[in-house]
Amino acid sequence: MDQKFKDQLGELYREFQEYDSRQADRLDRWRNVEPESALLLSVLVRSRQARKVLEIGTSNGFSTLWLADAVKATGGFLTTLEIEADRTAIAQRYMEQFGFSDRVSCITIDAGRFLTDTNENYDLIFLDAERSAYTGYWVSLKHLICQNPGSLLLVDNVISHQEEVKDFLSVIESDPDVMATVIPVGAGLLMVTKS
Ligand SMILES: C[S@@+](CC[C@H](N)C(=O)[O-])C[C@H]1O[C@@H](n2cnc3c(N)ncnc32)[C@H](O)[C@@H]1O
Repeated sequence: MDQKFKDQLGELYREFQEYDSRQADRLDRWRNVEPESALLLSVLVRSRQARKVLEIGTSNGFSTLWLADAVKATGGFLTTLEIEADRTAIAQRYMEQFGFSDRVSCITIDAGRFLTDTNENYDLIFLDAERSAYTGYWVSLKHLICQNPGSLLLVDNVISHQEEVKDFLSVIESDPDVMATVIPVGAGLLMVTKS
């Protein structure tokens, strides 16, 4: 990974953290993934040579930049979903600024609608949106990871917001068709794959 790019991302993260610290309402914050978790995502995309990657929850595009850099290395493509159009536009500008436009599709859509309609074979899916909706996404997510053996689902904040994802985790843990583990990195990353 290019050190200059890593330094730029470090600088952006500090800027975004500073912005978040000034927002009283959590929904106004960017709520970006911790850099150490983003680095793990990037390692996983590369090590698995993932070519089709889906991100659910773009925000301003911080995690998207990490994933875009990783799919550039694998010759792959990233689709990222965000419900707020102004956030998609900001992320899109970062993709252009960093030269990733041809590798990334930034879509403004409700993730629930997208998941119901899609039948793509994603190699890796990163879920980082509104936690209260996750259980409702499970049928579609499970379908996507099970139809493409080796496919990996990663979910952020499962340690930092344990209570909010409790039901989602118990649905996954009691499902014999998948296996899951929590990596204690950043806010806690859940990894799920077909059994
Ligand atoms: C935690 S932030 C994502 C942070 C981003 N992954 C990063 O690390 O840079 C969650 C984002 O999901 C978006 N979101 C919430 N509900 C959504 C939905 N139903 N469909 C798509 N995006 C949604 C929010 O607007 C917010 O920007």
